[in-house]
Amino acid sequence: MSSAAFDSMWSALEQVGRVGSGGYRRFAWTPEDRTLREWFAAECARRGLDLTVDRVGNQWAWWWDGPGTVDDAVAAGRPGVAIGSHLDSVPDGGAFDGPLGVVSALATVDRLREAGVRPDVPLAVVNFVDEEGARFGVACAGSRVLTGQLTPERALALRDADGTTYAEALRAAGRDPAELGPDDETLRRVGTFVELHVEQGRALVDLGAPVAVASDIWPHGRWRFDFSGEANHAGTTRLEDRRDAMLGYADLVLGARHVATQRGCVATVGKVAVTPGAVNAVPSRVTGWLDARGPQEDQVRALVDELTGRAGETGAQVVRESWTPTTRFDAALGDRLRQVLARAGGAAEPLSVPVLGTGAGHDAGILATAGVPSAMLFVRNPTGVSHSPAEHAERADCHAGVEALVACVRDLTSLRAAPAADGADA
Ligand code: GLV
Ligand code: MN
Ligand code: MN
Repeated sequence: MSSAAFDSMWSALEQVGRVGSGGYRRFAWTPEDRTLREWFAAECARRGLDLTVDRVGNQWAWWWDGPGTVDDAVAAGRPGVAIGSHLDSVPDGGAFDGPLGVVSALATVDRLREAGVRPDVPLAVVNFVDEEGARFGVACAGSRVLTGQLTPERALALRDADGTTYAEALRAAGRDPAELGPDDETLRRVGTFVELHVEQGRALVDLGAPVAVASDIWPHGRWRFDFSGEANHAGTTRLEDRRDAMLGYADLVLGARHVATQRGCVATVGKVAVTPGAVNAVPSRVTGWLDARGPQEDQVRALVDELTGRAGETGAQVVRESWTPTTRFDAALGDRLRQVLARAGGAAEPLSVPVLGTGAGHDAGILATAGVPSAMLFVRNPTGVSHSPAEHAERADCHAGVEALVACVRDLTSLRAAPAADGADA
């Protein structure tokens, strides 16, 4: 039954925001986002979940059949468990990054109900807004503002490529920008967060496992490099007379590759804006956005310092748009989920459940940084490709992901004693 529920939700989302490449353009506070938010609200209503929207716009749908309200339960020492992810996408992103976690969370509610499970603590399904930062440049804006890691002042002043501010986008979506801010009342309800996500890399296919538990997220950030020059005619301006902003940018792109290789990091310049943007004009301004990540924080910082120094020699301005240090997920929670999954299939011998780190950022990482015990489950991606229309997970693995999430939620929402972790009391 849960497979059918998963499949029908998946079909319902398939065309929303789909573009010619076969990928998706689902950016925060656009009509596509509104359609997705309305879809989410309708799915929650169908299940009788109690939908609340926090001060940032993140949607939380609570299932609590116990005595009193969710807040009463939390006050009585029963903090909630939240599961879910996001529905927005990068430009021409894949179908799975985000929606797999939201659809799996809703299917988990169905599956628990079919099994007659009544959680001992409140359970929420969450749809985080603006995880990718595709429109306004700051990834995980929804969870960052929620937890106080991005100030509302800074968020409201962010602009999209058309010059629309975040505040204007909120207003156009029917929200009051003055509402935007950290939301302790919402956070207080969340004792644990588990985000299921498509694997963004290629490890599980070689390990022969459909699901892994996450260990940590690499430190990562985004920087904007502005190179200035002088617009002039491409045919009549002598090479020695030119001030071509593109040359500094070209050095950034090649330098990023070179320095990242030397320092064991990854660096990407995936977005560029050229002014005036004419084939036959010398560029007067080029803005390139650098995304840098790596396993070692000091190496990522050194990489960015080196590239900033090189760009500075051309007079470029460099602005950091976001930075997230190394994030380690709650080790005890991760061990507990691994043990649950190892036993879940009912196999005679416990299964071995892989543990993977990742270079991708997630709302679960932002919540973890805010002190909410958080964990992630990754579902096998046979090609490892992500942020592309080619992103994929086999349907059987999606269903296995739901079963894994069901097992984890059953355990986390049950007040019977937690299992012992590696010989120690959990
Ligand atoms: C989010 O997907 C990121 O890591 O950029
Ligand atoms: Mn993503
Ligand atoms: Mn994601």
